Amino acid sequence: MNKQLKKGFSSGGILERTLSNSVAIESLIPDSVQSQDERWMTLALLEAMNGVGWASPNPAVGCVLVKDGAIVARGFTQNYGGKHAERMAFESLQKDCSLQDLKGLSAYVTLEPCTHFGKQPPCVDLLFHPCVDEVIIACFDPDHRVSGRGIEQLKQSGKKVRVGVLEAEARAWHLPFLNSRELKKPLWVAKWAENQEGLLADSSGNSKWITNQKSRAYTHWLRQKYDAILVGSGTWLVDQPKLTVRDCAKPHHRDPVILIHDPSDRIQIDSVPPSIRIYKQKSVKELVEAIESTDFGFELQSVFCEGGAKTLNELFRLEKIDIVHRFIGQKDFGALAKGSPHRIHAFDPSVGATWECTTLCDLDYDRLQEWAKCF
Ligand SMILES: NC(=O)c1ccc[n+]([C@@H]2O[C@H](COP(=O)([O-])OP(=O)(O)OC[C@H]3O[C@@H](n4cnc5c(N)ncnc54)[C@H](OP(=O)(O)O)[C@@H]3O)[C@@H](O)[C@H]2O)c1
Ligand SMILES: [Zn+2]
Repeated sequence: MNKQLKKGFSSGGILERTLSNSVAIESLIPDSVQSQDERWMTLALLEAMNGVGWASPNPAVGCVLVKDGAIVARGFTQNYGGKHAERMAFESLQKDCSLQDLKGLSAYVTLEPCTHFGKQPPCVDLLFHPCVDEVIIACFDPDHRVSGRGIEQLKQSGKKVRVGVLEAEARAWHLPFLNSRELKKPLWVAKWAENQEGLLADSSGNSKWITNQKSRAYTHWLRQKYDAILVGSGTWLVDQPKLTVRDCAKPHHRDPVILIHDPSDRIQIDSVPPSIRIYKQKSVKELVEAIESTDFGFELQSVFCEGGAKTLNELFRLEKIDIVHRFIGQKDFGALAKGSPHRIHAFDPSVGATWECTTLCDLDYDRLQEWAKCF
């Protein structure tokens, strides 16, 4: 289920939140948010974003508890194995509140509450609390240990339950987790920056700087959302990219694992840090198989491919890409544009019904398009 997200929302969450730290939380609520329900759910999603890349492979969930038109507690899922959003919210309720004070709570959660004992006890038990009147859930959790049980158990305990407030926006945020549970495979994500002529680099290989600071900030935010970054050897050797999380809003929870495809042994192993994994498979098809069967020591839910065009085109041809982040900037390469081969020609969303546009917005003079495969 894909559809265009409300303006101001993106695959990386609430776009403005990813760009800088110095914005008051109220002003981060996009104008497209209309109802009071959506407002509280947006605040739950903003809470969730505080756990970006940290909760993984758990979903980065957010929760707010609302009473008499005000938030009385909030929480987000902690690092893997740590407390879930609902528990963080309940624990942050003022200890001196009497049950009477708390009566009539509405709980807003970005994902269906869990019902099983994992590293933490079930969140649904907290929501059985007599003070909770109503639970509002953005999206269903397809994990086989939850899968509707959270909703069912809450209803059976007499709670009012509503599902689907900002569903598409929450699904976009939780997509690596949801996809891993629904399709049992990592999400393959393509990202590139092109100029008005569709070029990722000029004929000499220069690609600096096609896009602006906001586009870079959002890209850095995405780097911590996704588990691994993949680049081809061409990009690694020409750009010498750091591929770290630096220029986006805080928190900076993690840098993803870096993967490089080097089928012709062009990269000297001792020239790269040992944490970087180099794949030598001769084809991109074999590369994908190798990555998907690598034991990373954690569950790989997403691969963020940052180029270059050869690697991305091949991934598109293999129909591996599920999500696209396409940045279109103003860079003019002048005479050096001529003869440049650096284009994404294997992605054409106007052909067939494969792709649906989920985000279309301006980042100053850059244009951001996000596309999701219809699955
Ligand atoms: N604007 C952007 O978003 C962006 C992003 C990334 C990069 N860039 C620019 O793109 C340029 C690099 O582009 P690129 O397309 O060369 O980069 P690339 O995709 O990073 O590298 C090409 C990859 O394809 C492999 N390859 C080539 N022919 C192959 C074949 N027949 N079978 C299997 N694998 C094959 C190459 O291996 P070999 O080692 O054998 O060649 C290499 O791993 C740089 O100038 C960089 O600045 C721009
Ligand atoms: Zn939970």
